[in-house]
Amino acid sequence: MRTGVWLVGGRGSVAVTSMVGAVALRAGLAEPTGCVTELPQLRHPQLPQWADLVFGGHDVIATPILKKAEALADAGVLPGRLVTALQPELAALDAEVRPAPRGATQAETAALITADIDEFRRRHELGRVVVVNVSSTEPAAEPHEAHAALDVLREALRGVTPVLPSSSLYAYAAFTAGCSFVDFTPSTGARLPALSQLAHERGVPYAGHDGKTGETLVKSVLAPMFAMRALDVRSWSGANLLGGGDGANLSQPAPNAAKAASKQRVLAETLGYTPQGDTRIEYVEDLGEFKTAWDLITFRGFLGTAMRLEFSWHGCDSALAAPLVLDLVRLAAAAHRAGRSGPLPELAFFFKDPLGDVEHGLTAQFDALVRMVEGLA
Ligand SMILES: NC(=O)c1ccc[n+]([C@@H]2O[C@H](COP(=O)([O-])OP(=O)(O)OC[C@H]3O[C@@H](n4cnc5c(N)ncnc54)[C@H](O)[C@@H]3O)[C@@H](O)[C@H]2O)c1
Repeated sequence: MRTGVWLVGGRGSVAVTSMVGAVALRAGLAEPTGCVTELPQLRHPQLPQWADLVFGGHDVIATPILKKAEALADAGVLPGRLVTALQPELAALDAEVRPAPRGATQAETAALITADIDEFRRRHELGRVVVVNVSSTEPAAEPHEAHAALDVLREALRGVTPVLPSSSLYAYAAFTAGCSFVDFTPSTGARLPALSQLAHERGVPYAGHDGKTGETLVKSVLAPMFAMRALDVRSWSGANLLGGGDGANLSQPAPNAAKAASKQRVLAETLGYTPQGDTRIEYVEDLGEFKTAWDLITFRGFLGTAMRLEFSWHGCDSALAAPLVLDLVRLAAAAHRAGRSGPLPELAFFFKDPLGDVEHGLTAQFDALVRMVEGLA
């Protein structure tokens, strides 16, 4: 099943690490470490193989993919030998990542995005295409009446005033093109009633939001532990220091607020109450593509005895994110093929801020994912 992967933000760190990883896996030059769809419980003949994946995308910058891959190798994200060995394949990907289109109205922009995806699907004879948003995090979207209903939205998109944030316009264009959509970012994406209506109308599934790769992953394991042991979590504070393009973007207040909100959801929903504390995000240029998160948790035990837990996480964000992007592509493509449409809550395992009313503990989420894969026709 030849499957297209259309990466919005195709020249960014996560996108390029995903492409290098997939090409290396196909060439037998890398192991699928970190790819959960390679676990025995999740292997399934309905999932596309690494060799079936064909990459394209949009970006607002023109940095050559090979140059970005070399920069990621210099930063310690990718092995330099892989980038050297895969030079021709990476150079060939450049033509597939197009400049992000811009029309006079959002309806025109969406039509241009859809046309690029259609052309990519035809030229590569793809069975289906999964559109994945890995572009820069946006500020939280301003509410607009057109978000509530598809017919109102279609009309509003023809006006000169933009009504959708960029991530949602990509979701609209993806659904219109008959593609599934995965939002790896905390941006609004498909999370609007009008877009849910469109996904159902077009018979396509979608998943999100915000890949769970580091601090929140640890939270989703520790929070259920406190809940199951009936311990009283009084405060949970986190400091995230990161560099890279994501870090630079998140140093701006509006995207920073969107990300911090996405990170705290797991606590309230797992513990059933909100402990004191916040997650702070700070840009430290010198950390490059790496991230450090420190969390301090204070809790009370039997007879009110006060205790604390601290952890620190030193992660390479793109290396943690890329295998999950590849997993999500395989799973979304298989779900689409199996006739699923609308939100895929079983993919909550991958996200900080999952769609729907779902379990937030990692084990429960993994079990739901296994059941979904077992049920693929
Ligand atoms: N790395 C992780 O562990 C992780 C985890 C969860 C979420 N994310 C999210 O994934 C996204 C990508 O992260 P990254 O480290 O690759 O960031 P990055 O800054 O390296 O890449 C983002 C890319 O998006 C492009 N872009 C910006 N606006 C665009 C638009 N309107 N259309 C098309 N392209 C556009 C940028 O030019 C850039 O190339 C971020 O939103 C980040 O918050 C990453």
